[in-house]
Amino acid sequence: METVPLQHAVAEHLSAMWCPECHADLALEADAIVCAEGHRFEIEENGIPLLFAQHEVEATKGDVTGAMKEFYEETPFPNYDSFDSVGSLQAKARAGVFAKMLDDQIPTGARIIECGCGTGQMSNFLSIANRKVIGADMTLASLRLGQEFKKKNSLNRVQFMQMNLFKPIFRPATFDLVISNGVLHHTSDPLGAFLSIATMVRPGGYILIGLYHKYGRLITDTRRMVFNMTKDHFTWLDPNLRKTGTARGKWKAWFMDQYKNPHESKHTIGETLGWLEKASLKFVHSIPTSYPFEPFSESERLFEPQRAGGYFERLAVELGMFFKGSQEGGFFTIIAQRPID
Ligand SMILES: C[S@@+](CC[C@H](N)C(=O)[O-])C[C@H]1O[C@@H](n2cnc3c(N)ncnc32)[C@H](O)[C@@H]1O
Ligand SMILES: [Zn+2]
Repeated sequence: METVPLQHAVAEHLSAMWCPECHADLALEADAIVCAEGHRFEIEENGIPLLFAQHEVEATKGDVTGAMKEFYEETPFPNYDSFDSVGSLQAKARAGVFAKMLDDQIPTGARIIECGCGTGQMSNFLSIANRKVIGADMTLASLRLGQEFKKKNSLNRVQFMQMNLFKPIFRPATFDLVISNGVLHHTSDPLGAFLSIATMVRPGGYILIGLYHKYGRLITDTRRMVFNMTKDHFTWLDPNLRKTGTARGKWKAWFMDQYKNPHESKHTIGETLGWLEKASLKFVHSIPTSYPFEPFSESERLFEPQRAGGYFERLAVELGMFFKGSQEGGFFTIIAQRPID
């Protein structure tokens, strides 16, 4: 029976949390979290608290939360290779430029929430360097894989929790960094989702989001069309799918996520600058930079201010995204800060 460590793990975060239904204080029972108003959230035997709350959406927005949950419960993303260990997780993450940059540049001791953590690679990885990380997602099958990895490798500074990102389980201004990579574009209301998770950034803290780009995604869209027309015969057209040595589960996770996803939207840097304004956040950095002719460098400082390009500069960069879309699915990244006053 794991009652004591399980209680311990959740208890540590409780004062920073609130009820996702009514925002009342939370208290811990043997196998559940309860709020002062009577809402009750079970904690799974493996230690994952089930704090998912349905959000009220206008019927016109055509909510996709249920469809997305069903999809990812079937194919958790990005999944693990069967032989993954802390060593191989670190090696793989650091081989990817982006994760390495984050690991090098986020201070140890930082308090982080990853909203839409999927199977939790990034959350597990970032917790290794003494950071306190919450991996939050609505998909239980994914959270369970993350939690299993955490437990097997005694990563005690990461905690996985089930949450709907439209109904945060943490109080405003709790985190030094909120990360949401590849998630908001799988909701019916990406701006609403962004405004919702942005509440959790403390003054002086940061938010980092990764989104599909309107033009960066065109190559993937073309491949999807070819796959659909040929009953998925030409999967080798995707560089990730023709790599050798990928475990079957991981291969399938990428294939399904990229080519069979029930819902994705596409965005531009210009559009997200408008989102920052609505959330009263300050633009800090983007990948790619929002002005042209600035080659990407692994040593660039993600959390140091960079100027935001003007309309025509951005247009040049956004159009250029078409040529960058082939490898990583046409992503761009925006980092913003909540001003201190
Ligand atoms: C493409 S996966 C990204 C996983 C991970 N961030 C990564 O980059 O590998 C998208 C994730 O978003 C989660 N998600 C989508 N809508 C959500 C919502 N409303 N609340 C919580 N999680 C959500 C899905 O469950 C899924 O795990
Ligand atoms: Zn409540």
